[in-house]
Amino acid sequence: MITAPFYLVEKFFPRMEPGVVLDIGFGDGRNSIFLARKGFSVEGIEIDEKRVEELERLARDMHIDISVQHTDVRDFDFRSEAYTAVLAIQSLVFLKKSEFRTIVERMRHALQQGGIAIVSSFTVDDVSYKRLSTRDEVEENTFLTGSGVHWQFLAKGELRECFGNGFDILHYGERVVEDDHHGDMSGRHMHGIAEIVAQKKRGA
Ligand SMILES: C[S@@+](CC[C@H](N)C(=O)[O-])C[C@H]1O[C@@H](n2cnc3c(N)ncnc32)[C@H](O)[C@@H]1O
Repeated sequence: MITAPFYLVEKFFPRMEPGVVLDIGFGDGRNSIFLARKGFSVEGIEIDEKRVEELERLARDMHIDISVQHTDVRDFDFRSEAYTAVLAIQSLVFLKKSEFRTIVERMRHALQQGGIAIVSSFTVDDVSYKRLSTRDEVEENTFLTGSGVHWQFLAKGELRECFGNGFDILHYGERVVEDDHHGDMSGRHMHGIAEIVAQKKRGA
């Protein structure tokens, strides 16, 4: 079952000009499918092969315009000024801080003028930060988990600073939300989340 799109995608898609949307780490494809149904041409990238096969199948069955690529975002060749929107919804958590900054820079360049970036990621208010920060810090606010992947957390105001120059901030928020269901985390716990919708200035 496909879940509802991320609320900021639903809210801000009318501000996107017709064109191509890049969805980084599309997961079950909820945002890609929503935007393709709204008439956008969607390029999705995803590191998990099963999810790639699943979205390919769904797009074919639904006759919607989604082109899917199985790749790690770190290896993806971002086209310059090509996209009307670029989404990274909870998909850049698993990068080291330096890699996160590189990807944000590539996202900025990949947007055409007037293009919109929507990014959401965990902050230092997240329950996992409290758990992982007792370990060695690999890079700034970046920790190696027991399963061998990195998790990096955003400091207060950091995501806003990423889009400080050359962009208009349409939305910015940092919030703590309660969650009570997770594959690996039982019981109620708090997630710290920063989220931004930023529009590339024309002439920037
Ligand atoms: C929490 S899910 C979010 C999925 C989707 N963006 C959404 O809003 O529902 C994060 C997704 O990012 C993918 N992902 C994680 N690291 C990635 C990477 N380095 N390159 C591409 N995709 C990645 C995961 O496989 C997973 O499907």
